[in-house]
Amino acid sequence: MDVYDRIEQARARIAERLTLTPRVGLILGSGLGALADALEQAVVVPYRDIPGFQQPKVAGHRGELAMGRLGGQPVAVLRGRFHFYEGYTMQEVTFPVRVLRALGCDTLIVTNAAGGLRPDWQVGDMMRISDQIFLPGMAGHHPLIGPNDERLGPRFPAMVGAFDDELAALARVVAAEQGTPLREGVYCMVAGPSFESAAELRLLRALGADAVGMSTAPEVIVARHGGMRVLGLSLITNLALPDGPPANHEEVLAAGEQARPRFAALIQGVLARMT
Ligand code: HPA
Repeated sequence: MDVYDRIEQARARIAERLTLTPRVGLILGSGLGALADALEQAVVVPYRDIPGFQQPKVAGHRGELAMGRLGGQPVAVLRGRFHFYEGYTMQEVTFPVRVLRALGCDTLIVTNAAGGLRPDWQVGDMMRISDQIFLPGMAGHHPLIGPNDERLGPRFPAMVGAFDDELAALARVVAAEQGTPLREGVYCMVAGPSFESAAELRLLRALGADAVGMSTAPEVIVARHGGMRVLGLSLITNLALPDGPPANHEEVLAAGEQARPRFAALIQGVLARMT
């Protein structure tokens, strides 16, 4: 079965349970999954019931697709994502994005936990992703390698302007209204799972990255390949500085927990105003 048929199979299984057509897909990163609790009229489908979906194994990541209304919008929320460092291929990592697209989502909001590379930033800061550096992709671990199915998107999709300007403007307005500072910057994806060495952090900074994490970039590529608008938001869960203390997963989860209400309010505010 080719990937198009596998997407269709997953879509059909989910559609059996659907009571609305989702318009916005959301991917919730480490420690941020609880936002899905705010869904109204929620229908929840465990990943194990969806053909082609894997089972997340990382603490802080659940495995379910929740659909309902958030900020008045029909949304489909991936609660738990798959990481390259878990051993999944880039195609497996991004399969759920294909399914969101097939379900009817034309917009994707991706969130993640990231290390801040700038010494003047703080734990708990929120950053809108203005652009990305996909290091594993540039090195050959790219979700679009292989035959291209034109029904899913073009052979050579452009990535300049991948992050939608209108959604960016909306996020800025909503953040300002809520009194939440919103930083903007370049997100760099590394494969992980080790945190970066001091020399690697200096390298990333020299490349022009403002935040570093182990997800998101392949999902953004596949969303753009499928013609979705993308808004990316990072929560700075730790400072990743060459002369700072080493990062650890516990602080990443704790920062996610603390920032959850602000993060949730921003996303709900954006959804409520989205046209
Ligand atoms: N490095 C890589 N990934 C991360 C970090 C980090 O410091 N923090 C959260 N995800």
